[in-house]
Amino acid sequence: MLPKTVKIVEVGPRDGLQAEPKTLNVEDRIAFINRLSQTGLRSIEVGSFVSHKWIPQLAESDLVYQGILKNPEIDYSILVPNQVGFDKALENKVTSIAVFTAASETFCQRNINSSIEGSLDTFAKFVPRAKEMGIRVRGYISCAIACPFEGPTAPSKVHELIQKLLKMGCDEISLGDTIGVGTPLQVLNLLADIPAPLEKLAVHFHDTYGQGVVNIYAALEKGISIVDSSVSGLGGCPYAPGASGNVATEDVLYLLNGLDIETGVNMEKLLKAAEYIDNKIGRETRSKVSIALRRVE
Ligand code: HMG
Ligand code: MG
Repeated sequence: MLPKTVKIVEVGPRDGLQAEPKTLNVEDRIAFINRLSQTGLRSIEVGSFVSHKWIPQLAESDLVYQGILKNPEIDYSILVPNQVGFDKALENKVTSIAVFTAASETFCQRNINSSIEGSLDTFAKFVPRAKEMGIRVRGYISCAIACPFEGPTAPSKVHELIQKLLKMGCDEISLGDTIGVGTPLQVLNLLADIPAPLEKLAVHFHDTYGQGVVNIYAALEKGISIVDSSVSGLGGCPYAPGASGNVATEDVLYLLNGLDIETGVNMEKLLKAAEYIDNKIGRETRSKVSIALRRVE
């Protein structure tokens, strides 16, 4: 049984741009997000309040957040690693945040300079407050399938973290195949006997081995109805050597349209947003669908 509707979470402005070699200025990032807002997407990750020394591409995400035209029907979120980031979210009246940890100690340490337990302790200091204030909280678990340093991840480790993050108050948990090595068998194993309501779980596939779309299909069959992607397949992960961008939103939309699953997203407008960002960062698209449809034009 496949879901009737799927929410696509567009992470291009954050996960995508954070790993592109070219840093875009605030105006171009705002223009990109404004285009995405017109596509019918209902969830867009705008940027992150992390150290600009670690992720220079997303410096001044506060100005981007302030500058975008906000459609009240769209959830605009900001990635927040700690109290400093949360305070900045409050200053900027951010209504939706995402915290992030990992199922691998080595990755967690390299990504946020903290152990997994340390990251949970950090989040526990502000997530309940965020909830009290009506702020939406998403939790990410990186290396849900494998870690670039430690190898395959046991599904039980991910399940344990899902429970802890939900208990803390997260509204939604996104399971990240950070390095894009998973195949449908691993996705099915990860999602078997999952100790959480499926409607609270999202899948987040990087497309290093070209398995993103087929992995999404496997997840849909398991009852997942929230899918993360980046228009044009932007990005990679700065702390995961060799990882390529997220699965492209156009490719995900083509799959979902073909399955008669409702998303509310308009392909033509999405292709325009993809073209805009490809021109700005000066590289060819990584989306198979964009390549095919541009050829038809
Ligand atoms: P740290 O060096 O351990 O932090 O970094 P610290 O508390 O020792 O502070 C060091 C400096 O950073 C200080 O400034 C702080 O004020 C500042 P200084 O005194 O040196 O001038 N600082 C901050 N500045 C801005 N915003 C903050 C902040 N916190 C401290 N929030 C820290 C710890 C978490 C900040 C650092 O490790 C960091 O920024 N990491 C970036 C991690 C990141 O953004 N990674 C990519 C996103 S995760 C991802 O892509 C995976 C995902 O897509 C899912 C998947 O694919 O698996 C979500
Ligand atoms: Mg990612």
